[in-house]
Amino acid sequence: MSSFKYNSSELFCENVNLKEIAKDFGTPSYVYSKKAIEENAKAYVNSFDNPKNLACFAVKSLSNISILKIIKDLGCGFDIVSGGELHRVLSIGADPKKIIFSGVGKTEKEIEQGIQTNILSFNVESASELYTIERKAKDLNSSAPISIRINPDIDSGGHDYITTGRKGDKFGISSIQDIFELCRYSSTSQNLNLVGLACHIGSQILDLDGYIKSADKIFELSDQLSKEGIELDFLDLGGGLGVTYEDEVPPVPKELISSLEKKFSGRKERLILEPGRSISANTGVLLTKVEYIKDNFLIVDAAMNDLLRPALYKATHGVCNLDEKKESTKNWNIVGPVCESSDFLAKNVSIEAVEGDYIAINNAGAYGFVMASNYNSRPRACEVLINDDKSSLIRKRETFDDLLELERIND
Ligand code: LLP
Repeated sequence: MSSFKYNSSELFCENVNLKEIAKDFGTPSYVYSKKAIEENAKAYVNSFDNPKNLACFAVKSLSNISILKIIKDLGCGFDIVSGGELHRVLSIGADPKKIIFSGVGKTEKEIEQGIQTNILSFNVESASELYTIERKAKDLNSSAPISIRINPDIDSGGHDYITTGRKGDKFGISSIQDIFELCRYSSTSQNLNLVGLACHIGSQILDLDGYIKSADKIFELSDQLSKEGIELDFLDLGGGLGVTYEDEVPPVPKELISSLEKKFSGRKERLILEPGRSISANTGVLLTKVEYIKDNFLIVDAAMNDLLRPALYKATHGVCNLDEKKESTKNWNIVGPVCESSDFLAKNVSIEAVEGDYIAINNAGAYGFVMASNYNSRPRACEVLINDDKSSLIRKRETFDDLLELERIND
């Protein structure tokens, strides 16, 4: 969290005092550092030796269009998983030839959108999806670029809910025979253009072993295809690189890229990666106010609807008071107003706070705002971007009227 630091005992994001943000924009609010976003995106873009290799930012991790634009301007492409995400990246002028469309359940409408947009590739996750893409491409008198997402049966070691590359997970295609059949079929189809192979084994990955094993599996497949005269443009090894929430020490993007580029040396295909969390996580905090104190509870104005990760995965986020205070002698559970016992943001944390204080929940940039909901009819928080000593509202706080906007009384 290098962009978030105490200055004269008050927490700043770049050169802005976060207490000012809490007062000007209210709480709960998500606050992001432009500098951190740029540093993290550059850690990928500038690490490639081969200029044809590409990092496609996983939009699902943080999808505000102001932030996507910063990431695009630094040269990243995008990994999308829905028509909505495609709409977002097109709205900021993303280069279609840097867009990868992943996901197991693409609808016909989404496939049509992708074909018409001329994206780089659909990462195909089943035979049925492949035939649907072919049919849609035929209807549109076109040829759709596809890559086959394989399931390499590799355990990336993270939380069960975010591990995606084991046999039995719903992602990718497991059977080698099926993969070859689909590749051969695609290479002869008038309406399909096989451009790559892909895999993504999970999220919050803390070592490089899984990537190396995935590369080996994917090389084997690509080499066999090459022997049959089928040449591929790229091999996509997915996203997943972890970050430090507590005391984890994940490899940095440069280490990942160097070891993969070493493996790729002498090969014709280019390397694509789909990083999300490692670009977005440490760029943002969730600001919240302590409303009440009871027993060992700090009851704050943010809740599981604002940041779901602790409730859903028992994820741990560091917390700090915007006023740097001496170490607390007491441990607190930080909880929100939602009517569920799973509504906690942090458990058993040592922090000094009194009612009315503001607290930052750290590393909330990835899978934070994007997973927010209106549960308990709570308007979603605003999003604020800090650039040096300036702050801009990049998403308004929702209002009560917004909550009713799409509803109708049926009479
Ligand atoms: N590519 C694909 C196909 C993915 O499914 C994902 C994430 C990524 C790339 C980006 O992975 P990353 O670099 O961010 O690890 N909500 C969970 C994380 C779910 C990840 C889903 N897929 C969380 O809050 O931890």
